[in-house]
Amino acid sequence: MLLTFGGRSYALRAGESVLDVLARHGVGLPSACRAGACHTCLLRAEAGDPGEAGQEGLKPALRASGYFLACLARPATDVTVAPAASDIFTPATLLRRERLAADVLAVWLRPHRPVGFRAGQHVTLTRGDGIIRPYSIANLPSEADRDGMEFHLRIYPQGAMSGWLATARQGTELSIGIPTGQCFYLPGNPTAPLLLAGTGTGIAPLLAIARDAQASGHRGPVILVHGASEPDRLYLGEQAPRDCTAATGRPPARWRTCARSRGEDIVAAVAGEFSALADPMATRAYLCGGAGSGTRLRRALFMAGGVVAAPPGGAGPPGGSPPGRPGRAGGVGRLAEGYSDTPAVVGGAVPLPERKPAALPSPGSGAS
Ligand SMILES: Cc1cc2nc3c(=O)[nH]c(=O)nc-3n(C[C@H](O)[C@H](O)[C@H](O)COP(=O)(O)OP(=O)(O)OC[C@H]3O[C@@H](n4cnc5c(N)ncnc54)[C@H](O)[C@@H]3O)c2cc1C
Ligand code: FES
Repeated sequence: MLLTFGGRSYALRAGESVLDVLARHGVGLPSACRAGACHTCLLRAEAGDPGEAGQEGLKPALRASGYFLACLARPATDVTVAPAASDIFTPATLLRRERLAADVLAVWLRPHRPVGFRAGQHVTLTRGDGIIRPYSIANLPSEADRDGMEFHLRIYPQGAMSGWLATARQGTELSIGIPTGQCFYLPGNPTAPLLLAGTGTGIAPLLAIARDAQASGHRGPVILVHGASEPDRLYLGEQAPRDCTAATGRPPARWRTCARSRGEDIVAAVAGEFSALADPMATRAYLCGGAGSGTRLRRALFMAGGVVAAPPGGAGPPGGSPPGRPGRAGGVGRLAEGYSDTPAVVGGAVPLPERKPAALPSPGSGAS
C-alpha cells in the first residue's frame, strides 16, 4: 500500500498509522493526543479510502469530504492525502487576556463567524505560522457570543503556543478548528449526581459543563473537585467561583480543592465523594486533566464500583489511556473524559514521542 502526501509516496507497513508512516519518513505532521481526541492531526483524502478507523467520531460532513485523523487511520488501500482545507477553520481575533495565576492565563478570542459548540468541548487554535494546539473552551456558548470564546492556558514560557499567547498583542489573528469532544452535559436525567474532577486547567471545561447543567435545569447534586500540585495552582480559588452560580444563582452542591503539597490526594477525594453519594451508580463522572491523574482517577472510580464507559473503539477500564495520551470521551455511559494537558507530543514540527517538560509533574502525581 502506498500513501501519497505532498507529491511523494511512502510504503505503508501493515497496521501503521498515517501519522507514523509520515513521521518514519521525516514528515512532521501536527499532533497532540495521538488517540483521536484532539483533531490536531486532521487530514483529507484526495483519492482512495483512508479507512473507517480514521474517521471514527468525525462529523458526517467531514467524513463525506474525505477528512480523517492521521493518528488513527490505517488505510488498507493506496491513498493520496492532503492537509485540511483552510475553510474548515474559523479566523479569530485575540480580544483580551487576564492572568488568573502565576502560570495560568485566560484568553478571549472573537471568531469572525459563529463557532457552534457545546460547553466542555475543545478546539484547535492555529497561529499564522501553522503551529496548532488543542484547547478546551472555558465558557458557555451564550457567553462566547457576547464576550468571545474563553480559554484557560497553563503558560509554558518556552511553549510555542501558550508562551506566545502570553505576550501576543491584542488584535492578533489566529484560527479556530471545529469544536470536538463528547465531554459535555447530556440532558435527560436531571436528578443524577454529577461528579466533575479536573487537575490544572482541566477544571475549566468541567466548570463550564457544571454551569451548563445548572442552566439546563439540572437538579441533582453537582460536585466539582479541583486538584493541583500547590495551593497557588488552584487558580480558581478555594471557594466555588462566582461563575459557578452566575447561570442560575445556585452554587454547586460541593466545590472541593486538593493540593498535593498539603497532602491532599485528588484520587482519594474523588473516590470518597463517589462512594458518599446516595446513588453512586446513577452518577455521571467527568474527568479532565493530565494523563497520569486521569488514569488514576478512572481506576479509582472503577475500584469504587463505578461503571466506566469504554472509549469508542478503544480499550476499556481500568487501565485507561496509554500514558501520555488522553482518554477519549465516553459519550454515553457514566464517564466522560476530557483531555490531557500534558504536552506529550509537540505539533507543528516533527512529532516527537512522549516528551515531558521538566516543569510538569511526574506521571501519576495527581495534579498539574
Ligand atoms: C484535547 C486537549 C485539550 C487541551 N486543552 C488545554 C487547555 O484547555 N488548557 C491548557 O493549558 N492546555 C490544554 N491542552 C494542552 C495544550 O494543547 C498544549 O499541549 C499546551 O498548551 C502546551 O503547548 P505549547 O505550545 O505552549 O508548548 P510546547 O511548545 O508544546 O511545549 C510545552 C512545554 O514543553 C517544553 N518542551 C518543548 N519541547 C521539549 C522537549 N523536547 N523536551 C522537554 N521539554 C520540552 C516547552 O519548553 C514547554 O515548557 C490540551 C491538550 C489536549 C490534547
Ligand atoms: S486526534 Fe490525532 S493527534 Fe489528536
